[in-house]
Amino acid sequence: MYNHLLSCFFIIFLITFHISQAPTLAADFCWRFRVHIINALSHDNLDIHCYSLDDDLGEHNLGVGGDFTFKFGEHVILHTRFWCDMKYGSDHSKTIDVFTENIGNKHCCHTRKCFWSVREDGFYFSNNNQSWVKWYDWS
Ligand SMILES: *[C@@H]1O[C@H](CO)[C@@H](O)[C@H](O)[C@H]1NC(C)=O
Repeated sequence: MYNHLLSCFFIIFLITFHISQAPTLAADFCWRFRVHIINALSHDNLDIHCYSLDDDLGEHNLGVGGDFTFKFGEHVILHTRFWCDMKYGSDHSKTIDVFTENIGNKHCCHTRKCFWSVREDGFYFSNNNQSWVKWYDWS
């Protein structure tokens, strides 16, 4: 009898635990991403122009320390790609993918944020605005 009661409690516990975990699990799905592109150059403005197949986010001139940010929702996630033309000075320009399905799933899913730090020596990626890894050179 005692054992029976115990397994009953255990099952109720399992069900409750499962239900209470559901919102957390849902929040871990990869959707509603935000992308930040930070001008981390030491003294140049950064010209930036980002696109997806559906969006033209316009031309922006970011001062040193400036942060160009945009977000997008679940409905456009599948195969979503955002890329940006970046330019500073007279001889540095490059187009990079700032968000792809792969970047989203593999690197930004946990925080749902993708950060790019644009520096003289290249493009650094982070998903938490703290630990940075260099992903691309300018050339
Ligand atoms: C990223 O980190 C910098 C430096 O700590 C801070 O000034 C900035 O507000 C942060 N941006 C976001 C979006 O967390």
